[in-house]
Amino acid sequence: MYDFTIYVPTRIHFGRAQISHLSELRESGEKVLLAYGGGSIKRNGIYDHALSILKEAGLQVFELAGVEPNPRIETVRKGVEICRTEGIDMVLAIGGGSTIDCAKVVAAGARYDGDPWDLVLDRTKIRSALPIYAVLTLAATGSEMDMHAVISDMTKNEKWGTGAEALLPTMSILDPSYTFSVSKKQTAAGTADMMSHTFENYFSFEEGADVQKRFGEALLKVMIKYGPIALAHPDDYDARANLMWAASHAINGLTRAGCAPAWCVHPMEHELSAFYDITHGEGLAILTPAWMEHVLDVRTAPILAAYARNVWGAAESDDLEAARAGIQRTRDFFFKTMGLPENLRAVGITDEQHFEKMAEKASAACVNSFVPLSKEDVIEIYRKAF
Ligand code: NZQ
Ligand code: ZN
Repeated sequence: MYDFTIYVPTRIHFGRAQISHLSELRESGEKVLLAYGGGSIKRNGIYDHALSILKEAGLQVFELAGVEPNPRIETVRKGVEICRTEGIDMVLAIGGGSTIDCAKVVAAGARYDGDPWDLVLDRTKIRSALPIYAVLTLAATGSEMDMHAVISDMTKNEKWGTGAEALLPTMSILDPSYTFSVSKKQTAAGTADMMSHTFENYFSFEEGADVQKRFGEALLKVMIKYGPIALAHPDDYDARANLMWAASHAINGLTRAGCAPAWCVHPMEHELSAFYDITHGEGLAILTPAWMEHVLDVRTAPILAAYARNVWGAAESDDLEAARAGIQRTRDFFFKTMGLPENLRAVGITDEQHFEKMAEKASAACVNSFVPLSKEDVIEIYRKAF
């Protein structure tokens, strides 16, 4: 296990009716910028409820509405502008990862003199941010408890993750009942996303990190158990609660610190979203089994076999056979049990015209990954997933 420092200061209020804690925003001032997406929070009533608590607490609310899935830099700029002209004290995101990520970069942009896209390209420029608050409505990204944000500039086909301690939310409200209204498509994609975060940390040659590995396996078992239940029964509280809490832990650093290599399935997926604007979790589900197959060899087999045995109960005694069984179980879970799209064509990627460019960008991030991937490797994985 390598040395690490971990810092997770976000105050979490987890459970039913925890939205009453929005009154705590008063600790950061009076003027709040409320960021939200395309309207789901108006349809399910969270918007009205939140506004009444904020007003009751004496907060003045400004709005940044219409944050896109795969949030755009243009929307971040709009938010920064409101912060500057209105003298905003804090940012509150109510929504999924896209809304929270947008709010994070708005909060940092408000304390930065240049264009906020600089902060996306160079995380060292994020020195401070307005206090960030979140009410989570979709279990997936873990943005509610991590220091990352992912922003796109579709005019350049670029989607990059940034991150800094200043982007850690001050407080996040996690009420699982708020995710009852999440569609089957987003429930499945969210489950694939949180599983992928766990995989990215889990598949590593680092030895001696048993806490992180066993914790990762436990998270995966929880996701595999409750993902299908949430699909079949969207208002099953325990299913939604376990998915929500597992998603936060998959990326808050606990399974990453001390053992994780550089992530590589995420960079490959971010290119798909940058060029084709697809749903992040669907892209990950499509790429993951293809990636696992690509990296499977005698050296990686013991690690993939441990996953197969400890998560799926694979009984094969030979490592290569067990690993193959685990990959097949993963494939079946995503595509049969969760009904996720099986290949790139199913999400509208019908030719290879951008593979070369996407692979060039993605492979640059995969130099220190579990198995380092060259541009050619990434193209091969895209082809396998086609
Ligand atoms: O926009 P609204 O109307 O709110 O609808 C959203 C959106 O259409 C809807 N939704 C959210 N909560 C709902 C709901 N619909 C009904 N009921 C609810 N309670 O779901 C759709 C997708 O929302 P989005 O926020 O885009 O999904 P997600 O949470 O999966 O976020 C995806 C974004 O996060 C980034 C991804 O790349 C992508 O841009 N990621 C962020 C990470 C982080 N900050 O650490 C890490 C991840 O790996 C990921 O890259
Ligand atoms: Zn992700």
